[in-house]
Amino acid sequence: MRPRESAPGEHRVALTPEAAAKLRASGFDVVVERGAGVLAGFPDEQYAESGVALADQASLLEGAEAVVRVAKPSAEEVGALPAGVVLIGFLEPLTDTDGIARLREHGVVAFAMESIPRITRAQSMDALSSQATIAGYKAVLLAADRSPKLFPMLMTAAGTVAPARVLVLGAGVAGLQAIATARRLGAVVSAFDVRPAVAEQVQSLGATFLDLGVRGEETEGGYARELTSEQQAEQQRALEERLPTFDVVITTAAVPGRPAPKLIPAASVDAMRPGSVVVDLAAETGGNCELTEPGREIAHAGVTIVGLTNVAALMASDASRLYARNVVTLLEHLAPEGTLALDFEDEITAGACVAGAPTAGKGEA
Ligand code: NAI
Repeated sequence: MRPRESAPGEHRVALTPEAAAKLRASGFDVVVERGAGVLAGFPDEQYAESGVALADQASLLEGAEAVVRVAKPSAEEVGALPAGVVLIGFLEPLTDTDGIARLREHGVVAFAMESIPRITRAQSMDALSSQATIAGYKAVLLAADRSPKLFPMLMTAAGTVAPARVLVLGAGVAGLQAIATARRLGAVVSAFDVRPAVAEQVQSLGATFLDLGVRGEETEGGYARELTSEQQAEQQRALEERLPTFDVVITTAAVPGRPAPKLIPAASVDAMRPGSVVVDLAAETGGNCELTEPGREIAHAGVTIVGLTNVAALMASDASRLYARNVVTLLEHLAPEGTLALDFEDEITAGACVAGAPTAGKGEA
């Protein structure tokens, strides 16, 4: 079952025609809500051609054992879910405690894409990574579009143009993709992350690792730990000195379940050159820049600050292709040969389940 997304700006679809056909071949009965894929570039006819059944909202959930979607369901949508159904999507388990409680109260067995353990075996289900890859790429295109500067160095009859200088803050999945994309466009790229381990990855992409004199820690899951307030102040100070030398700053710094670390205070934006661009991929969790307005693009003293949220959905077609593959792999894991067989002893199943697991697991507190 694949209902149409209801969240504003959510153009992605959880199953593409190709993914739905793959599920059918694996023994699943698949029903897709009419119009679900239209905004991602997959009209109903493509699903029908793949042999997938289409249904209207009213009859969509009849007999459903599993529902897959991109964004979390609204309270009303949760109310319409059959009790005991398996739900898969971005359910925001670390921040939307009310939403998770609602799912549990309604008897839904909920699997959050965000909670899939980041282990090698689960890499093909890792939707955080697939969508961050898209967002990192798109962030650079947004910046290049807003910037009045060319990214590559150009030697022309009218003279030489210096390459754009791009700084990427946070070199996780989105940041590394942003570095690679900015490099492909010919920019000179620097990057910083609190996890010292990423310096080598940054350099291998042809960027310079900026030494801000701040070193954070890495958790077992490979995530950053939140900096102490002294470290954060030190980071802001060190950055403020360097920011005016960049044309574009792309920020992706995040700590799971926490508000985005503030890396760029308003005073640092004031110090940037007019025409500079900040693309803040952390806007959804409050932004890495103090002036970021989530969901909006603003100008401050000649500096453009792009705070668009859900940037992956701006590239809905390929974002959906990758997400759908993540979903299919998870479904095949939970329901080999199309029959649900939930094994809560399994690390992936237990880790991803945020409501409705038989034993008190993650998210059950
Ligand atoms: P994320 O979206 O939670 O954070 C983005 C980046 O921000 C991280 O690299 C983090 O270190 C950095 N950050 C946090 N606070 C910062 C600060 N104050 N200043 C600068 N940077 C800051 O992380 P993401 O991209 O989802 O993944 C992080 C890491 O997880 C990956 O680089 C990798 O090591 C690991 N991972 C492992 C996978 C696997 O083994 N299957 C799959 C994907 C990721």
